[in-house]
Amino acid sequence: MKYRHLTITLLITSLLSPLALADAKNDTEMKKLASASGCMTCHGIEAGKPGPDGMKPIGPAWSDVAKQYKGKPGASEFLTRVVLEGSNPYSSHWKGKVSGLSMPPNAVAITEGNARQLVNWILALN
Ligand code: HEC
Repeated sequence: MKYRHLTITLLITSLLSPLALADAKNDTEMKKLASASGCMTCHGIEAGKPGPDGMKPIGPAWSDVAKQYKGKPGASEFLTRVVLEGSNPYSSHWKGKVSGLSMPPNAVAITEGNARQLVNWILALN
C-alpha cells in the first residue's frame, strides 16, 4: 500500500514537472503557430543565430524584440499592427541589425487574434 502511493506520487511528479519547468521559450503551441504562419522563415527565437549564407538574420530574433520593447506601454498593440500591416522600409526599426529592410504585411497569413497572441508571447520571452 505504502509503495503504491509512492509509485503514484512519483508518476504524477514525473508527469507534471516538465510542464512546470517549461518556460515561454518552450511553448510548442506558439512555436507551431509561428511556423504555420511563416514567421520562422525570417525570425529566430533566440538571438545570435546567423541568417542565410552567414549574413545577419533577416528579421530580429524574438528575444531581442522582447528586450527592445520591455516595459514600453502599448508595445503589444503597436507590434500587433506592425505584424499585420508590415513595416516601412524607409524607417526600419532594426536598421543595421538585420539584413531584411522591412517586414511584409502578414495579414494574409495570420488572423489579428493569432497575431496578438504571438506578439504577447514574444514580449514575454526572456
Ligand atoms: C519575409 C520575412 C519576414 C516574415 C515572414 C516575418 N517577419 Fe517579422 N520582421 C521581419 C523584418 C525584416 C523585421 C524588421 C523590420 C524593421 O526593421 O523595422 C521584422 C520585425 C518584426 C517584429 C518587430 C517589429 C518592430 O517594429 O520592432 C516583430 C514583433 C515581428 N517581426 C514578428 C513577426 C511575426 C509574428 C511574423 C509571422 C506572423 C513575422 N514577423 C513574419 C521579417 C519578417
